[in-house]
Amino acid sequence: MRNIKDEPNLNQKKVLLRLDLNVPLHNGKITDTTRIDKILPTIKFLLKNNTKIIILSHVGRPKGKVVNELSLKPICESLKNKLNHNIRLISKNIKEINSADLFNTHDEKIVILENLRFYEEEEKNDNEFARHLASLADIYVNDAFSCSHRAHASIFEITKFIPSYAGLQLNIEIDALTKITSEILRPITCIIGGSKISSKIDIIKNLISKLDNIIIVGGMANNILKYKGYEIGKSIQESDCDQIIEEIFTLSKKESCKIIYPEDVVVGKDLNGSPEIKELNNVSKDELILDIGPKTIKVINQLIEGSSTILWNGPAGYFENPSFSKGSMEIAKKIVEKNKNNKIYSVAGGGDTVALLNSVGATSHFNFVSTAGGAFLEYLEGKELPGIKALN
Ligand code: 3PG
Repeated sequence: MRNIKDEPNLNQKKVLLRLDLNVPLHNGKITDTTRIDKILPTIKFLLKNNTKIIILSHVGRPKGKVVNELSLKPICESLKNKLNHNIRLISKNIKEINSADLFNTHDEKIVILENLRFYEEEEKNDNEFARHLASLADIYVNDAFSCSHRAHASIFEITKFIPSYAGLQLNIEIDALTKITSEILRPITCIIGGSKISSKIDIIKNLISKLDNIIIVGGMANNILKYKGYEIGKSIQESDCDQIIEEIFTLSKKESCKIIYPEDVVVGKDLNGSPEIKELNNVSKDELILDIGPKTIKVINQLIEGSSTILWNGPAGYFENPSFSKGSMEIAKKIVEKNKNNKIYSVAGGGDTVALLNSVGATSHFNFVSTAGGAFLEYLEGKELPGIKALN
């Protein structure tokens, strides 16, 4: 994999820079800027080498439609402030832009194209769309490790049309995760939460043979509770998961990997509602499960206590509302406590997980924090990620 640092001739080149600026947004405001902060060295390196930069990114899941709330505008503003450099957001339809349109003046150095996922061709890994993107520049840089598990046009197909390189942050993440996975100590416990159920449920099955304990919390746990026959009311869930859940439990017995899921929960009538601790057989039809309960926290803390390595992706509940953040906070607290005594090796990853750790000042007490969530888990599975394969 060629890194952009090793390219001797960058002067005056137009660089398509694929970043993952998919940061958490609330009412149009960025609530955590870690993914922006991490890629600043790459942009500064490209500026120093006198290139012109065309930033590509997605935010959210607009599914091929223009969704104004998912514009890159607030992200462009944040980047501008952090770099103290002018950056222009180009909102024109990407398919109608050509290379000569991009920079207004000789002095203009950085532009951002609007959310790539406003175009259905992006997620379809469309060959023509990728060819068109490639036609806008001289070289391509992928500095979006956290998107590299997606075979999308701006990650995978594009590399067929243009000299392609890894960015600075992409190498940092891969080097760290390679070291972690090769030196990992057992027992290994992996906590998987968050709301992206469909992306993660298959991954769990593939991780079973590699881990000692898998703790399932967040959205995915709702599907397990439903499979076990409990009422989950209006909680988020994914359809048609029963077969894969059955396979997860069968395989975990065979491989002696313990699967842990909530023993009690915290519910609310809506996302802003007041919290109520409930036994599993007490959840009503009009309630949402929004956090794990105290019994579950106790079980998880005991497992963390007995582990040598802890891997964590995805909060335990709707932590954006403090009423439902206790489960995630207690997990973070326990890991930090063990880490301070050098009794555990801890790795966390994912946009929301990083936001959560930053909000409680826990980030520096983890051995490594990755910007990647889904990509981090797929990397742990031992899969070659499409974005990395394409660069290789
Ligand atoms: C992430 O947040 O993990 C990446 O931006 C990928 O997002 P996705 O799960 O919507 O593809």
